[in-house]
Amino acid sequence: MSFKFTEQNLQRIEQETKKYPVRKPALMAALYIAQEQNGFISFEVIKEIADVLGITSEEVLGVVTFYTMYHQKQMGKYHIQVCTNVSCMLRGGFEIWDQVKNKFGLDHMGVTEDKKFSLEEVECMGSCGSAPMIAINEDFYENLSKEKVDEILESLRSAN
Ligand code: FES
Repeated sequence: MSFKFTEQNLQRIEQETKKYPVRKPALMAALYIAQEQNGFISFEVIKEIADVLGITSEEVLGVVTFYTMYHQKQMGKYHIQVCTNVSCMLRGGFEIWDQVKNKFGLDHMGVTEDKKFSLEEVECMGSCGSAPMIAINEDFYENLSKEKVDEILESLRSAN
């Protein structure tokens, strides 16, 4: 399936390129914008970004595969990221990980059949002081208990 940036998103990328003497450093921002528009980074997205920034597809792919926040397949509407790194682990991160896994029958990078939820085990998200934490899309939920996690997930389950 082909991919073209919307006019508005092309303008956003142009704005990003103006921050640097060359266009390549706008790559991470372009990938973020592309993921927002397309849901994930497909091969067609990679080609379009390479064209827009005047770099090679390999250069784009290298960044896509290095950073876990860029997804190479369609994830759920609510993408749940559970931190199991040290601070979160010491405060119940693995229990929360198991809880979410069992609730949706998912494993790492799994997506529910209705495409509503997906799950990812992540390394530290910089919120150690308020461990344990999860992120759902761009929102952080901190100082969690299993009860709070269940409340959050149930509210999303009943949301559109
Ligand atoms: S260890 Fe979980 S946010 Fe840092």
